[in-house]
Amino acid sequence: MRTILIVDDEKNIRLELSGLLADAGYATLVAESAEDGLERFDDDPADLVLLDVNLPGRNGLEALAQLRDRPAAPPVIMMSGEATVETAVRATKLGAFDYLEKPLDPDRLLVTVRNALENVALTRKSRELASQLGGPDGLVGDSPAMRKLRDAVGRAAASDARVLITGENGTGKELVARALHEGSARAKSPFGKVNCAAIPRELIESELFGHEKGSFTGAAARKIGRIEAADGGTLLLDEVGDMALEAQAKLLRVLEEREVERVGSNRTIPVDVRVIAATNKDLPAAIRDGEFREDLYYRLNVVPIHVPPLRERREDVDALVDHFRAKFQRESGRSLHTLEPGARKELAAWSWPGNVRELRNVVERLEIMTDGDVIDAADVRAILAGSRPLAGAESGPEATDDEHEEGLPLREILDRTERRLILAALGAANGTVSEAARQLGLDRANLHRKMRRLGIERADAEDADSVAEDVSD
Ligand SMILES: Nc1ncnc2c1ncn2[C@@H]1O[C@H](COP(=O)(O)OP(=O)(O)OP(=O)(O)O)[C@@H](O)[C@H]1O
Ligand SMILES: [Mg+2]
Repeated sequence: MRTILIVDDEKNIRLELSGLLADAGYATLVAESAEDGLERFDDDPADLVLLDVNLPGRNGLEALAQLRDRPAAPPVIMMSGEATVETAVRATKLGAFDYLEKPLDPDRLLVTVRNALENVALTRKSRELASQLGGPDGLVGDSPAMRKLRDAVGRAAASDARVLITGENGTGKELVARALHEGSARAKSPFGKVNCAAIPRELIESELFGHEKGSFTGAAARKIGRIEAADGGTLLLDEVGDMALEAQAKLLRVLEEREVERVGSNRTIPVDVRVIAATNKDLPAAIRDGEFREDLYYRLNVVPIHVPPLRERREDVDALVDHFRAKFQRESGRSLHTLEPGARKELAAWSWPGNVRELRNVVERLEIMTDGDVIDAADVRAILAGSRPLAGAESGPEATDDEHEEGLPLREILDRTERRLILAALGAANGTVSEAARQLGLDRANLHRKMRRLGIERADAEDADSVAEDVSD
């Protein structure tokens, strides 16, 4: 039988929780203060701890930190009557499994407890898996944040639980989703992906569930939906926060009943799909605004995985830079520039609003655009100065360049990349070649040469400062 330690200074809560948990088949221990709780735990390590935040004396967050330092650190669920975002964030950073607001909802509490315990059971397996995730296309970085992430991914991969991946654009959510699939028992079955933001709202249902011929205007043939196509495997619902409410209702039903109904059909088809959802939206806020169903949120958020922004793990920048340089070299066959320490310093200091995707683009851009053999701090500064508008021009919900370009000869990819960068810089500089050259960290003559080679016409770049270029090469 699993033992749960309840630490709360309020007697009523201790009683209520012990009763509820005992009814659900758990053994319980109680403590009234942090000190008391830690002592209890050391005497008789529980499988899980329910810990109040506001305790007399040492508070719950301190106790949480101490529990997480124990060799057999138990999962800890924090509880608070006056939940603030800051405390919730701190608790999560300290390694709390979850954070529940009082008054506690018994059903939610039991679900959370069950998830947390399931997680522990899988910890051992996760260690092995975590070490396998560092492969050539795995998650690069060894910062504490990254290690924690890898650990969480390994643990979740070993389970069949639903996962909600949150994080800013370009942090690596999709990579995490793929690692989850690759590390899971479903690895040999299909991995499907639906970008809920890129599909027009009216089409999401037919995309997910499929449709029968003639079920609506434009439905010329029967179509198998993405859920059905991923049967036996994993389906990533990317940008899930952008789904229409009606589609959310249908999705909820799929998750509950494990079956789909094609649009225009009333036949149900059983499906076995592990759903992983990802979003850069604040779903709790979307719930408050009535744009996201709370019940769906809890169904999707069984195991939450947050991918931290790059600026919160700058220690990883160096390793990522090396990773993308090596990748660039492998794929292009070009020899790399020498990257000066000063250049690395500039890169490590950048705020990376576009996160890892931006870093990859910057690294490629540096290799492609830098003249000579050495990349120095000034080269980096020049590229970074143009990084924001360029990153903006390339991102947007479907900024997966890698996918569009897959299978093209590398020379072609490089030319396209170069062309795209130059056109974006020209656009940002209102067509002024000398300004675009400055943004790109190139001299004007060199930019002109590249433009000629890539067939970028003067008309694309209204050249205000053109007179002498052609003689300047
Ligand atoms: N830790 C990492 N190690 C190696 N590559 C990474 C890492 N994180 C992200 N990447 C790479 O960065 C790029 C962006 O990652 P990904 O597409 O997974 O981000 P995302 O969070 O899904 O972004 P968006 O919110 O814009 O969809 C990809 O090329 C991915 O392979
Ligand atoms: Mg993504």
